[in-house]
Amino acid sequence: NSASSDLDKRFLQCFSLKYPNSSTAEVVLTKNSTSYESLLQSSIRNLRFLGSSIPKPDIIVAPKEQSHIQVAILCSRLLGMQVRVRSGGHDYEGLSYASDSDDVPFLIIDLINLRSINIDMEEESAWVEAGATLGELYYSIAKASNVHGFPAGSCPSVGVGGHLSGGGFGTIFRKYGLAADRVIDARMVDANGRILMNRTLMGDDLFWAIRGGGGSSFGVITAWKVKLVQVPETVTIFNVPKTLDKDNAVATTNLFLKWQTIADKVPKELFLHSVMSVTNSSYGGKTLQISFTGLYLGTAENLLPLMQNKFSELDLHYVNFTEMSWIQSVLYFAGYSINDHLEVLLLRNQTSQSFKAKSDYVTEAIPKEGLEGLWNMLLEEKNPILILTPYGGRMSEISGTETPFPHRNGSIYGIQYLVYWDSNEETEKHVDWMRRVYEYMRAYVSKGPRAAYLNYRDLDLGINRDNTTYEEAKSWGLKYFKFNFEKLAIIKAQVDPANFFRNQQSIPPFN
Ligand code: FDA
Repeated sequence: NSASSDLDKRFLQCFSLKYPNSSTAEVVLTKNSTSYESLLQSSIRNLRFLGSSIPKPDIIVAPKEQSHIQVAILCSRLLGMQVRVRSGGHDYEGLSYASDSDDVPFLIIDLINLRSINIDMEEESAWVEAGATLGELYYSIAKASNVHGFPAGSCPSVGVGGHLSGGGFGTIFRKYGLAADRVIDARMVDANGRILMNRTLMGDDLFWAIRGGGGSSFGVITAWKVKLVQVPETVTIFNVPKTLDKDNAVATTNLFLKWQTIADKVPKELFLHSVMSVTNSSYGGKTLQISFTGLYLGTAENLLPLMQNKFSELDLHYVNFTEMSWIQSVLYFAGYSINDHLEVLLLRNQTSQSFKAKSDYVTEAIPKEGLEGLWNMLLEEKNPILILTPYGGRMSEISGTETPFPHRNGSIYGIQYLVYWDSNEETEKHVDWMRRVYEYMRAYVSKGPRAAYLNYRDLDLGINRDNTTYEEAKSWGLKYFKFNFEKLAIIKAQVDPANFFRNQQSIPPFN
């Protein structure tokens, strides 16, 4: 409409006032630009947010240098526009690119062009621009060394911008902690459009906040400096799927009950998660499957006695183990063959579906009756997945206040609930199912608050209204951040008192 095209013009004018000599058209895309639609869709990972009813940004800025971000912030402040920041576009609720309101004009700052990675092998560190993906980071490390790695998520197309600012865990986090725990410096542009080139300029508080508090409440992170970790030349994986078919139900249930008692206590070199899904039963119909999948930072020879000692019921032998390099284990957990070319890790535009996810933390083992009720509910759905990630190890050694991510000592395992579907007409049905499962699980998971993981963003936990106060935001804020939420809100009040960087679940300034 004419109001929005007028806004486009004014934004373009504002931007080119600051950049009279640069080609603004390559950096600032309006709805009329030929590449607007393809750039917008390029990293929408949840198809739930691709529908025509979802408000689209008036402008997309794809900065090529930090100062473009600075100008985009100043111009959007001037014109009363909201800003969304997108790195990999994997936000579960689309917060990096979708707005909930047609009334407020907004723009996306998409960091697709800021993705260089510079590895310093002597210092065992890397500067990674925020628009790079985890896959690009893993690839660059593997090209430089076969005995270094980085502890972050399993999906290579996840962006480092969002992932590291929300925590970020993966298959080696019991040994090395979260991705955010390995951040040693950063660069960002703040709400006043100031470029903060290092942590000293940010100050300790702001540097603390962006390592787990979610970047989008505080500014635009343009790059992280991370410390790499040393990994052994040989790691070992195994995957043991078990069903709950009638012949196996008792044995598989017992395996899971045992898993709950050991997964967070085994040596930190062993990551042993379990994944629940629905599969075809050999008796016809559907049954539940639980896969026990492990990654061991060491050889099969050392893993075998460990498994026989800690989890003999799983009955593992050498034939169950595959030795490989760390980067091959990255391919494996990303769903590729370990013999694929490493270049598959660079693929950004992955096909996706619509989905809804939620998270929980388990602090006391779930009893058998509780599990059986859950399994019956899973069988009601076509494509549910529960990923159960053991904590302990390094995670228990780091204090809950070291970063905003509070889920450390005391968490046995985290649960991620996922459900996928094909057509957005079915959305309500699946989201309803997910909410029922979540309600059912209330009795069996952490309480006061019922904890949740920020990177598994869930707007059901609570949504900001206009001028939401700190008190109101506690409904969702305490779940993600527990005792760290107040400090985050105080820092927000210091660095962005006017609440310029805001969205449905941004941290409000403390008041
Ligand atoms: P996106 O660009 O959507 O950003 C996510 C949030 O961060 C938004 O609020 C956005 O505004 C903000 N943001 C992004 N870049 C920013 C920047 N430069 N400055 C300031 N704010 C910024 N997690 C995990 O811990 N382990 C895992 O193994 C996985 N696996 C996984 C697989 C798949 C398929 C998906 C879809 C997601 C995951 N995740 C995950 C969750 C993932 O860590 C989470 O969605 C991240 O926030 C995604 O970061 P992106 O940059 O890709 O998203």
